[in-house]
Amino acid sequence: MLKIGHRGAAGLAPENTRASFEKAMEANLDMIEIDVQLSKDNQLIVFHDHNLRRLAGINKKVNELKLSELKKIDIGSWFSEQFAQERILSLAEVIELVKGHLQINIELKVIRRDHNLLVKKLVRLLKERDFSQDVIISSFDHQLIKSLKQTNPELQGAILVASVPVDPLRLIRDADADGIHPHYLTVTEELVKLVKQAGLMINTWTVNQQDEITRLKNLNIDGIMTDYPELLVER
Ligand code: G3P
Ligand code: MG
Repeated sequence: MLKIGHRGAAGLAPENTRASFEKAMEANLDMIEIDVQLSKDNQLIVFHDHNLRRLAGINKKVNELKLSELKKIDIGSWFSEQFAQERILSLAEVIELVKGHLQINIELKVIRRDHNLLVKKLVRLLKERDFSQDVIISSFDHQLIKSLKQTNPELQGAILVASVPVDPLRLIRDADADGIHPHYLTVTEELVKLVKQAGLMINTWTVNQQDEITRLKNLNIDGIMTDYPELLVER
């Protein structure tokens, strides 16, 4: 089963930062989940929110600033003063940091309807860095996953879902995806069986309680995302 650190190890260090990814590596996880979007100058950057308010106290949208401007912003102090040096990373920097240690679940966050540019930039970077085999690309935007898979069928793509679909297999196939990433509270034994028997993948988020992790492991799910890596380590 894939042990996946959510936003790195978001319970132990500020989310989506170098410190968070280092914690995930120290914990010997298999994969990190990170959130990726485009800056104003169309750079792939790693940040969850569309706005900088929650993590930096600045009421500006991420896509209104260039990477060089975003780089000046402290995104660690909100968590603890010891992380005041943490800065927004580009996707290229994260790949460089974890390559050879961790795979990456790249969750694409989309605000502008700029699928083509996002897909083009992402695919080019993964090829340049020889990292295409080490990613699962996921999104709540299923059309984005479909565009990605239509032009790049070799990449692994998964649809994110927060609700309970009437027909999960159809939802996956409609997006030409390889699997589904449902919210953990919606995961049942039937769902896991259905998806796996169809030869598709099922990874769930974001599970921070030991009893739920045990339940999901017993269902033989393919992967679990958590903010607290120690919960995934066998005892
Ligand atoms: O990729 C799983 C999970 O991260 C989706 O929701 O809001 O935490 O990015 P969110
Ligand atoms: Mg995410």
